[in-house]
Amino acid sequence: MDKIHVTGNGPLRGVVRIAGAKNAALPVIAAGLLSAEPLSLANIPAVKDIDTALQLLELLGCKVERDGDALSIDSSAVDAVRAPYELVKTMRGAILLLGPLLARFGEADVSLPGGCAIGSRPVNEHIAGLEAMGAEINIEGGYIQAKATRLKGAHFAFDIPSVTATENLMMAASLAEGTTVLENAALEPEVEDLGRLLNSMGAKVSGAGTGTLTIEGVERLHGASHRVPPDRIETGTFLAAAAATRGSISVLDTRPDFLQHVLAKLEATGATVEVGDDWIKLDTHGRRCKAVHVSTAPYPAFPTDMQAQFMALNALAEGTATVIENIFENRFMHVAELQRMGADIELQGHTAIVTGRERLQGAPVMATDLRASACLLIAALAAEGETTIDRVYHLDRGYANIVDKLAELGAIIHRA
Ligand code: EPU
Repeated sequence: MDKIHVTGNGPLRGVVRIAGAKNAALPVIAAGLLSAEPLSLANIPAVKDIDTALQLLELLGCKVERDGDALSIDSSAVDAVRAPYELVKTMRGAILLLGPLLARFGEADVSLPGGCAIGSRPVNEHIAGLEAMGAEINIEGGYIQAKATRLKGAHFAFDIPSVTATENLMMAASLAEGTTVLENAALEPEVEDLGRLLNSMGAKVSGAGTGTLTIEGVERLHGASHRVPPDRIETGTFLAAAAATRGSISVLDTRPDFLQHVLAKLEATGATVEVGDDWIKLDTHGRRCKAVHVSTAPYPAFPTDMQAQFMALNALAEGTATVIENIFENRFMHVAELQRMGADIELQGHTAIVTGRERLQGAPVMATDLRASACLLIAALAAEGETTIDRVYHLDRGYANIVDKLAELGAIIHRA
C-alpha cells in the first residue's frame, strides 16, 4: 500500500493551480443519467472518487470518454439500474445516482452506503424526499429499491439541509410531473452549480443556492456542456498548509467568493490575504500563526471539510483555540494521530481544545478519511523530522496530484 513520506522543512512558497471541485463534479456526472443526449463536462478533477463514479456509470451502461480534464457521458444505452455495494461503500457520493435513475428509468437499486470514518451518515432525507414525490421505496438486503411510474412534484422541507439530498431531489424533480418546492435546502455552491447545469439541459430550476428551490418538471432533458467550478476545499487546504508552515503562496484558478469564512479565519491567524477574481495570495511574512476558533456549520459558515486542516494549523499556532464540529459526529479521528506527533489537544465531545506547539515531531501516522489525510500532511510539512502517512488512498479520493503540487511549493515529499 502506498505511503507518503514528508520531511518537515519550513515554509511553502510559490504558486499552485486548483482543480475542479470533486463535490461539484459528482452531482453533474450523476446528472448525465437524466438525458439520452450526451453531456460534455470540463474541469473534472483527476481524483479516485471521480474514477469510481465513472465506473458506476459504465456498469449501468453509459458510454464514458475522458480526455484530460474533459469528460463526455452518453447514457442513451443504459440497461441497468443497480449501483453495487462494492463501489458505493468506497464512495458515498454514489447516492447521487438514486434520484436520476428513478426519475428517468422509473427504477433504482442503489446500495445503502453504510457508516464511515466520520459518522453514521444516514440517507433518510434522500428517501423521505423521493417518497414525498410518490416513489415506493423498500430497503432490501442493504439496497435502496425505489420505483415510480413517474415522480410527482411535491412540497418537501428538509429537516437537515443535506447537500447531496438537495442535489438528488433537484435532479429527480427536474423530470417529475408538476412543480416541486424544496425548503431548508442546502446553500452550498455545488448545489447552485448543479442548478446551472440542469437549466442548461432544459430543466426549470429556480432558487438553487438559496434555502427554497422551485423546480418545474419537464418531459425530457437534452444534452449540454458545462465547466465544473474550482475546488474550494482544495483551495483552503493549500492556504492552511501555507499558513501552518509560515509560508507565502498564490493560489490560482480558484473562487475566493466560495471561501469567505475560511479566508476571514486565515486573516485572523495574522496572515495577509489578498484576492482577485480567480486568485488568492496568502503571506505569513514568516511569522507563526495565531490560534483561531472555528465552528463548523452549513455554507456559507465554516465548512466541516476544512475542520481537520485548521486543527493542524491550531496545533502549530500561538495560543489556545477551540475547534467545534457540528456536522458529523465522529470527525475527530485525526486528533489521535496529531497527538502522536506531539500536539496538545483535549477532546470534550464535539469540541477540541487545541494549544499550539512551536513544533510538532515527525512520526508514522495513519490517514482515516479524506480531510484527516490533509490535516496530517499539513502537520507533517511543519514538523521536525520525517513523517510517514499510511493509507493515503483516502487522500487520492479527493486531491489531484497533491504530492507534486506540494513538491512544487518546496516541500520535501515523496510517495513510495
Ligand atoms: N444527514 C441526515 N440524513 C440524510 C442526509 C444527511 O441526517 O439523509 C445529516 C448528516 O449525517 C450530516 C448532515 O446531515 O450530519 C449533513 O450531511 P450532508 O448530507 O450535507 O453531507 P453529504 O451530502 O453526504 C457532502 C459532501 C461532504 C461534505 C458534506 C457537508 C459530497 C459528495 N459530499 O456530503 O464531503 O462533508 O456535504 O458539507 O458532496 C468530503 O469531500 O470530504 C466530504 C465528506
